[in-house]
Amino acid sequence: MTLSTDTNLSKAVQVLKNAQRICILTGAGISAESGIPTFRDEQSGLWKSFRAEDLASIDAFNRDPKLVWSWYQWRRAEVKDKSPNPAHHALAKWQQHSVKADKPSQQLSLITQNVDDLHEQAGSSATHLHGELWKNHCSDCGMPYIAHIDTGSTELVECDACGGYVRPSIVWFGEMLPQRAWQVAQQSADNCDVFMSIGTSSIVYPAAGLAQVAKQNGATVIEINPHPTDSGLVDIQIPYPAGQALPALINQLGL
Ligand code: APR
Repeated sequence: MTLSTDTNLSKAVQVLKNAQRICILTGAGISAESGIPTFRDEQSGLWKSFRAEDLASIDAFNRDPKLVWSWYQWRRAEVKDKSPNPAHHALAKWQQHSVKADKPSQQLSLITQNVDDLHEQAGSSATHLHGELWKNHCSDCGMPYIAHIDTGSTELVECDACGGYVRPSIVWFGEMLPQRAWQVAQQSADNCDVFMSIGTSSIVYPAAGLAQVAKQNGATVIEINPHPTDSGLVDIQIPYPAGQALPALINQLGL
């Protein structure tokens, strides 16, 4: 069976045609086809012997700020030239259509765990649960740092106000999610008819709990992932790469 004749894709299309409120949660897998490694892929190059989990924390930064800063500068350099893939473009087209359509209007909220800006580059508006790779703030006083930082440099940068070290505005392990973004995500999961989980391993909480909330409230859960997860929550699995599945899906939705 090919993707276009996959019965699960047709089931998803039927459910989505009748849905009024759709909550979409994306993870690293949606950017994989743009050439950005997923979180749980092995790291490459210089960083092969480190685990992302051991670098993405305030303890790691306090212990060795230069190491953690250099890692993020390396990640920025890796992401800098990447472009949205057909999955990002399909979601943007869908979102733009849902805003324009007069009747019946479909509400589509896009929540992402990704810190890249590929959804925005494709023309979507997304709520970032885990922060944004291109933003920085002071690790001491919290003041945003807005001056340009060259991705080629691994020198630590100091805050203009207090001299503390500047850090990426990313939610590290053990830190709270941005309050407003989390509120938006919860409300959208709470109230949706369909919850779509795209390209995420669904193991990092609290984001992974959004599908549970949606399911408890009666939503149908659709997953797009070439390696289906075993969360036990999914009603319709679409076991294909997002860059193939999403264009096919919106094509069948007639968009
Ligand atoms: N299309 C769809 N899914 C894909 C594709 C693809 N082309 N390629 C890989 N995947 C799936 C993998 O099968 C895997 O289930 O994407 C998922 C990526 O999982 P993770 O690397 O765990 O990424 P994510 O779920 O986004 O991680 C959550 O963990 O480390 C933290 O803060 C970090 O936001 C991240 C969070």
